[in-house]
Amino acid sequence: MAGYHNGSVPEPLLPALARLRTDLLDAERLVRAVAAGRRKGEWPAFRRVELRWVDLRDGRLLQVVTYDERQAFTRNVSAGEALAAIDELLAQPYGNWHVDTVDGSVQLRVTKSGDAQVHRATSPPRDAVDRSHDRSKRRLIEPADPVLRAVGISDRDGRIKPSRRDKHRQVEEFLRALDPVLGVAMDAAGDGAVRVADLGCGNAYLTFAAYRWLELRGVPAELTGVDVRPQARERNARLAESLGWSATVGFVESSIDAAELPPPHMVLALHACDTATDDALARAVRWQVPVVLAAPCCHHDVQRQLSHQVAPLPYGALTRHGILRERFADVLTDAVRASLMRLLGYRVEVVEFVDSVHTPRNTLLRAVRTGAEPEPGQIREYRELIDQWTIQPALAERLADQLAPALRRDPTDG
Ligand SMILES: C[S@@+](CC[C@H](N)C(=O)[O-])C[C@H]1O[C@@H](n2cnc3c(N)ncnc32)[C@H](O)[C@@H]1O
Repeated sequence: MAGYHNGSVPEPLLPALARLRTDLLDAERLVRAVAAGRRKGEWPAFRRVELRWVDLRDGRLLQVVTYDERQAFTRNVSAGEALAAIDELLAQPYGNWHVDTVDGSVQLRVTKSGDAQVHRATSPPRDAVDRSHDRSKRRLIEPADPVLRAVGISDRDGRIKPSRRDKHRQVEEFLRALDPVLGVAMDAAGDGAVRVADLGCGNAYLTFAAYRWLELRGVPAELTGVDVRPQARERNARLAESLGWSATVGFVESSIDAAELPPPHMVLALHACDTATDDALARAVRWQVPVVLAAPCCHHDVQRQLSHQVAPLPYGALTRHGILRERFADVLTDAVRASLMRLLGYRVEVVEFVDSVHTPRNTLLRAVRTGAEPEPGQIREYRELIDQWTIQPALAERLADQLAPALRRDPTDG
């Protein structure tokens, strides 16, 4: 990793990319590289690219996985063709490159003025790199990592506890889903630390894992976990202290709507109960947070409303039976949340972030603030949805003052 500038001073992009190329071509030292995000006004051919060297029958090949909005495409490139493939990718206008090698990691972010901001972190050399073709075993944080042991996900021998396996996978996959939008938060943070709020943090598995993940990537960060339970704050603050992280990982005992924090660059909410997810989204919108990731939990609010009213024709069949009403309420709630976020200046994806065997609550709203004004079609779609089902979404109530002017932008509105 020698030769990288480190930290806050931007440097010319081309030489920085050239040094990255050396790491990518190194079939012994490269663990994995990810390119994602985009430069201002430019669009790479794929939303995201992952690179790693894998051992197959034909020898060691460069595996290139490209992602569009819906799926991943994998191809394996021989060592002889790797240089051309890598140069093609380096020429794409990605906003961020993250490269893990056996002895550290490099995060390269392209600034608004087109320079490279490079953060480098060294780590103890890894003995072995998993070069098997099956990438499902790859971990973002090793099970033996002191953080996973401290929070109680791993046991003393560094193995994931069977009782924590699902939570571990939820947290890992949540962080994986964060990866493509991390650069947006880093851009917003500029030269400072990325401020992250984990709202409804509970035992803070995600808070601690997110901090560690950012640390491993060399991204300076400050995390705050918010939870209404006093025991959560006490326990989590003790853990942060035992890890030596008190200065950068803090906990606030408060309801989400009243928590006093400096506006974060990123809001996370993993299974904040019922309308606590709406509290988290509403806070994020008011703070104008650039990146928001929320995996909602139970959805009682809309379910209750649906059970007290007659469904619009011909949709009675969707809500007549309890189980269908419950499932439909989940879908309606998250669809409305996504619509509202769009009306209020966010680009929103709704994705499955982890397999349902690890939690049935596996929907993730991933939102990036663009500040764009809503299209008339979006406004009409939202209004008709709410009018037809005569529901009052909790998020709309919480953001009524911001929503009113957004809805008035519909030119068909008399
Ligand atoms: C299901 S737990 C999830 C905890 C954690 N995010 C995780 O995934 O492991 C939900 C947490 O949200 C907290 N919570 C619920 N409503 C809240 C609110 N309005 N304000 C703050 N915390 C809240 C609860 O105390 C609980 O710890």
